Amino acid sequence: MRLSSIFPLAIFAASVLGDTHYFFSGFFAGTTIVGIQFDDATSTLSLVQNIIMQASEGSKWIAIDEQRKNIYVGTTGYFQSYAITSNLSLTYQSNISLSSDCSNANFLIAATAPSYTVFGVQYSGGCSAQAISVDATGALQRTISNLTYDSSAGVHGLDLSPDNDFVYSADDMGNAVWVHLFESTSGTAEQVQYLAAPTGANPRHLAVHPNGQWVYVVYEELNQLAVYSRDNTTGKLTDTNTTYPLIPPTFTNTSSYWADEALFSIPGTNSSTGSPKYLITGTRSRSTNSTGYVSAFSLDSSTGAITEQLFLLPSTGSGGSANAVSPSPFSEEYFAITDSGSNFIERWRIDGDAATAWAVAHLDLENGPANVVWYS
Ligand SMILES: *[C@@H]1O[C@H](CO)[C@@H](O)[C@H](O)[C@H]1NC(C)=O
Ligand SMILES: *[C@@H]1O[C@H](CO)[C@@H](O)[C@H](O)[C@H]1NC(C)=O
Ligand SMILES: *[C@@H]1O[C@H](CO)[C@@H](O)[C@H](O)[C@H]1NC(C)=O
Ligand SMILES: *[C@@H]1O[C@H](CO)[C@@H](O)[C@H](O)[C@H]1NC(C)=O
Ligand SMILES: *[C@@H]1O[C@H](CO)[C@@H](O)[C@H](O)[C@H]1NC(C)=O
Ligand SMILES: *[C@@H]1O[C@H](CO)[C@@H](O)[C@H](O)[C@H]1NC(C)=O
Ligand SMILES: *[C@@H]1O[C@H](CO)[C@@H](O)[C@H](O)[C@H]1NC(C)=O
Ligand SMILES: *[C@@H]1O[C@H](CO)[C@@H](O)[C@H](O)[C@H]1NC(C)=O
Repeated sequence: MRLSSIFPLAIFAASVLGDTHYFFSGFFAGTTIVGIQFDDATSTLSLVQNIIMQASEGSKWIAIDEQRKNIYVGTTGYFQSYAITSNLSLTYQSNISLSSDCSNANFLIAATAPSYTVFGVQYSGGCSAQAISVDATGALQRTISNLTYDSSAGVHGLDLSPDNDFVYSADDMGNAVWVHLFESTSGTAEQVQYLAAPTGANPRHLAVHPNGQWVYVVYEELNQLAVYSRDNTTGKLTDTNTTYPLIPPTFTNTSSYWADEALFSIPGTNSSTGSPKYLITGTRSRSTNSTGYVSAFSLDSSTGAITEQLFLLPSTGSGGSANAVSPSPFSEEYFAITDSGSNFIERWRIDGDAATAWAVAHLDLENGPANVVWYS
């Protein structure tokens, strides 16, 4: 990817007018991770860093650590760590090298408390996920345990319980959800539950509510959001059999879509409850001749249960392989979305009464973005 011309000093100088925010985006292919700034005053997104990775096959998924000092990257054959530098670039630190039959590094998530274990998974039949230790700086150290599935499993997304002691796996190829107990002091993992999903569901990503009572699961093939209740002691799930549509319910061409992502909005310091207001989802169209969809759900501030599906709106493009939503850490009303069909990133805003949302800023790119993580 070539660098666009106007960056980065002019943008930092202009940013004194209003708050600015910063995020990193990975790409499905190539050698670059970008740093992008959003300026509140002008409502513009600007490419400010073109960072060359130590890898040539893209960054299918990136994650940021709790202390916002490191970016973890899934690239073919490796999980890598990069330190975030003071000028908001990245410096390569280390990698976990993967076996050739399980090289499709596809997803990572970092524990939110010491010992900040990172969990990564490759999307190929029968591959385990790995619990990876980090050193004092947060750099990836070594695989301390494998989270095993069965031979038909192909896990696409992970999330952790609020105490980082249970790992939830969305098994897209094996059509199931798995629960593992992770003991951080010994670094050991053990399976505690296997739940087959409804026929043709294909769980892709999932999100554990921070109060530990719900796990919301994206059914990629059915284009639905499914509600699982969670036992806050055993970590086990019960499928409530409640689902919500992630494409318009009148559509009969379900196979033309593949639902992607569900993430909670991030309550800020002025949140009275500390509980997320929204769950935000993205669904892709399999063809660039038709848009994908974005939806949001309101969540009860004490129970975390869904109270209402607020909207189900066409996204700007198909989403390509992405339409990955990423809620911002500074306001529950904003999220970023990536489109690898038409190569752009947008920042969306949920309207005051949460009845709708729209793109407030758009940035065209020269390559297909995968997912973004907010730094500020
Ligand atoms: C950012 O800082 C790193 C050292 O931490 C340096 O190598 C790099 O050149 C700097 N990048 C820019 C764009 O100033
Ligand atoms: C992975 O780590 C090894 C050992 O430090 C290093 O030789 C290799 O260049 C690294 N490769 C990538 C792609 O990160
Ligand atoms: C994880 O599994 C791999 C592949 O089977 C094996 O080589 C490695 O020793 C295992 N690691 C641990 C910590 O059990
Ligand atoms: C769930 O358990 C954790 C401790 O593991 C506790 O902090 C939290 O308050 C519990 N949540 C509910 C809703 O009971
Ligand atoms: C969900 O449906 C399954 C299959 O019909 C049934 O066995 C199960 O009891 C239902 N679960 C709930 C919570 O109603
Ligand atoms: C699916 O069907 C709907 C309703 O007929 C249509 O508007 C939409 O463009 C179709 N989607 C694709 C991807 O073909
Ligand atoms: C905090 O309150 C301000 C002013 O009402 C609002 O703009 C902002 O979005 C709120 N922050 C969060 C995280 O909701
Ligand atoms: C979009 O293209 C696909 C084939 O790629 C086709 O099946 C579908 O009918 C088209 N949809 C529309 C709305 O043109």
